[in-house]
Amino acid sequence: MSIIAPSLLSANFLRLEEDCKMLHESEADWFHLDVMDGRFVPNISFGPMIIEFIRKTTNKLCDVHLMILEPEKYAEAFKKAGADILTVHIEACPHLHRNIQQIKTLGMQAGVALNPHTPVSLLKDVIADIDLVCMMSVNPGFGGQSFILNTIQKIRELRSMIDSTASNAKIEIDGGVTLENAKSILDAGADVLVAGNTVFKSADPKNIISLLKKL
Ligand code: DX5
Ligand code: ZN
Repeated sequence: MSIIAPSLLSANFLRLEEDCKMLHESEADWFHLDVMDGRFVPNISFGPMIIEFIRKTTNKLCDVHLMILEPEKYAEAFKKAGADILTVHIEACPHLHRNIQQIKTLGMQAGVALNPHTPVSLLKDVIADIDLVCMMSVNPGFGGQSFILNTIQKIRELRSMIDSTASNAKIEIDGGVTLENAKSILDAGADVLVAGNTVFKSADPKNIISLLKKL
């Protein structure tokens, strides 16, 4: 069964509590929380303070996607804020192995995110150590962009890498997921679907989540 992780980046921040409550009551499995620093990506979103508030609204898993440089400086703050999974970008981490160890030592699951241009093969020597690969299917920074089709073959490649090693890493697809393309993403081997606009720009978000969950 696939895991559905709506991204609160597309929520209405004037009524964040209601949107969190809606997700909590819905069939969503995880809360996907997008942290942007205006340096690694050309946008700024929110940090540990907001996540601490979101954490209080649910006991569902908080999946924190860091789109920031020097994530090691903030890993502890995100743990304190309530992150269950902490994902760092491979492109932002010259010492990726050390970042992964730090996240695990802090007691969180470790995720690694890949930009659309980054080859899957770069994960080879860490794939056995991580819990999640967040494969970007848009260029990170904004919600509401179109799915990059080349991602489908990258999912297949990653699936076979994971299946041929001792890795338990889940494959998460992030960006441009819709009711129309979700099935082909899952068929290619993905485990987790992130969805921002598809969920929050709909008139009936709970129903969209339930439709995604049924695929
Ligand atoms: C993009 C973020 C995504 C984004 C997904 O930088 O990492 O999680 O919010 O939004 P949609 O589903 O609207 O592409
Ligand atoms: Zn994300």
